[in-house]
Amino acid sequence: MRPGLVLVLLVALTLDVGSQPQKNFPKESNALNWGKFSGFWYILAVATNARGFVPAPDKRKLGASVVKVHRGGHLRVVVAFSRSQGCQSQELILRKDKKKPVFRNTLKGVKGFHVLSTDYSYGLVYLRLGRAERNYKNVMLFGRQNISSFLSLREFLDTCAILKLTEEATILPKDASCAHTLLP
Ligand SMILES: *[C@@H]1O[C@H](CO)[C@@H](O)[C@H](O)[C@H]1NC(C)=O
Repeated sequence: MRPGLVLVLLVALTLDVGSQPQKNFPKESNALNWGKFSGFWYILAVATNARGFVPAPDKRKLGASVVKVHRGGHLRVVVAFSRSQGCQSQELILRKDKKKPVFRNTLKGVKGFHVLSTDYSYGLVYLRLGRAERNYKNVMLFGRQNISSFLSLREFLDTCAILKLTEEATILPKDASCAHTLLP
């Protein structure tokens, strides 16, 4: 995305923040239907304070994720993402928290996989990573299609601002060659 456009979006967001009631953050989508959330997603945008996760601009591509609910309260999440070493995929098995709609696998460094909001055509995912005292924030915009709607992008940038990840917000170029490695 062109820097000018990002600036326009951010100004639009900033103007809006004052008129909204204070958000309690991070706020999870409580009535989430994990069955409906399952399946293939493109990762259209990402913002993270984990260094080296997002590669140099010429290596950036759309990411992808396949989410599947398993019996016994497990969630299988596969993520394919273009890194500086090339397209890499990783599989995570996450376990549901007993009380909250959150999945995690602390042994693998996943403190929380939260879906902040979704209408099942897009999803705003907040992934908290790190071990012990280390904490990395990772916000991803998931989409069933390879393009994001203005409103979902705005919500993504709004969330980045709240989590102080505005400078790390990256809209990924529409190259699906890495994402499609996860297609069935
Ligand atoms: C995006 O998806 C549409 C429909 O599946 C496809 O026709 C189009 O080529 C895709 N665009 C890119 C840049 O991959």
